[in-house]
Amino acid sequence: MSKLVLGMVGFGVVGSSVLKAILANGEIINARAGKQIVLKSIVVRDKKKAEKKLAELNVIDTNANITLSTNVDDILQDSEIDVVIELMGGVEFAYTIAQRALKAKKAFITANKAMLAYHRSDIAPLANGLPVGFEASVCGGIPIIRVLKDGLSANHILGIRGILNGTSNYILTQMQQFGKNFATALKEAQNLGYAEADPSLDINGGDAGHKLLILASLAYGIHAMPEDILIEGIADITPDDMEFANEFGYVIKLLGIAKKQDDEVELRVHPSMIKKESMISKVDGVMNGISVIGDYVGESMYYGAGAGGEATASSVISDIVAIARGESAAMLGFSRPLEEGKLRLKDKEKIHSRYYIRLYVRDKPGVLGEVAQILGRHNISIGAFLQKETDEKNIATMLFSTHHCYEREINHALCELEQIDSITQKPFKMRLEDEYE
Ligand code: HSE
Repeated sequence: MSKLVLGMVGFGVVGSSVLKAILANGEIINARAGKQIVLKSIVVRDKKKAEKKLAELNVIDTNANITLSTNVDDILQDSEIDVVIELMGGVEFAYTIAQRALKAKKAFITANKAMLAYHRSDIAPLANGLPVGFEASVCGGIPIIRVLKDGLSANHILGIRGILNGTSNYILTQMQQFGKNFATALKEAQNLGYAEADPSLDINGGDAGHKLLILASLAYGIHAMPEDILIEGIADITPDDMEFANEFGYVIKLLGIAKKQDDEVELRVHPSMIKKESMISKVDGVMNGISVIGDYVGESMYYGAGAGGEATASSVISDIVAIARGESAAMLGFSRPLEEGKLRLKDKEKIHSRYYIRLYVRDKPGVLGEVAQILGRHNISIGAFLQKETDEKNIATMLFSTHHCYEREINHALCELEQIDSITQKPFKMRLEDEYE
């Protein structure tokens, strides 16, 4: 059997799981690949630590004969290595590795969503027929890249709604189901090893944004950057918001949303209230889920582990197998650029949605009327309403849902509300995503 020789950069949780899977499931992987998959070298930061890891994995007993190095050139300049696998993280150095691997005529695999969010459209033309795999970059073990690239290639993708970040989903689930506050739920996620020590990208929507942008390239041929799209996180969500959601039949999820309408695509990441009955609302805890609507296939839904060594390694190995089989479809799924039907990114101000609003107000006569008047002046019609007293004397919480309006209108209304004396804190808004429109 001929061989496919791999060099890996990074030997953390995902890297060691890739090696573990190759050792444990080598026979079935090789049979599917039609080649013997050989991991020849790993570039690591700390050789001593890596040697210990290899010993723990019994690599010495299995005669796997893996070379450890601290110099990436040892892989990039090794003519025997067919595929470079980048599992190191970071943006610019990882991009340099991609460039150098492709220049050296090696296939390239990465799990690095942040790097792809910025550089996917730079890497695609460099590939020039060489395979570039990134199945592990979005939603860990869920094969959503292949779904969009191959499985749904007959379709115009009308919409995507995804829970793309496990850590934030864990936090929101704990808040909603067990009444915890944000800080407690975050601490728990960190203790369980879901959130990073610096979890900012998990909770500010950045990580989900990176993943949505990758999906948008595959679905629409749109190569937007993180700065181009609306990204909001979950840090400002309070038990009051959860209470309103529970009362009116919603759950709160951090969603990555793509919607195509005519020749425009809307891309946004933000916490959303979604109906309890919808399938995606049932994706709880650290799990990920994505619903995709295609014009021919209708809605299909994908659920699974979005993070973790083994699930992510499963996706990395699917790329290795595809390369061994000689699959080399265009990296971002379009063999030639879309001419007719080329899509544009929709202006954020033109988002049309229902909204949830939370206000803290002075509990005195006439305040509700004042608030309703301002909303009305901005063309915003109130749907549901809940008012509660707070622990603080003479301060009440007003919680509203609205009917559809434009983002521009709600922003102007909230700005105006913020100026009036009766409002004691900055107003908070969240979008309601009832269904695909
Ligand atoms: N921090 C990410 C998450 C890991 O929580 O989903 C997988 O990308």
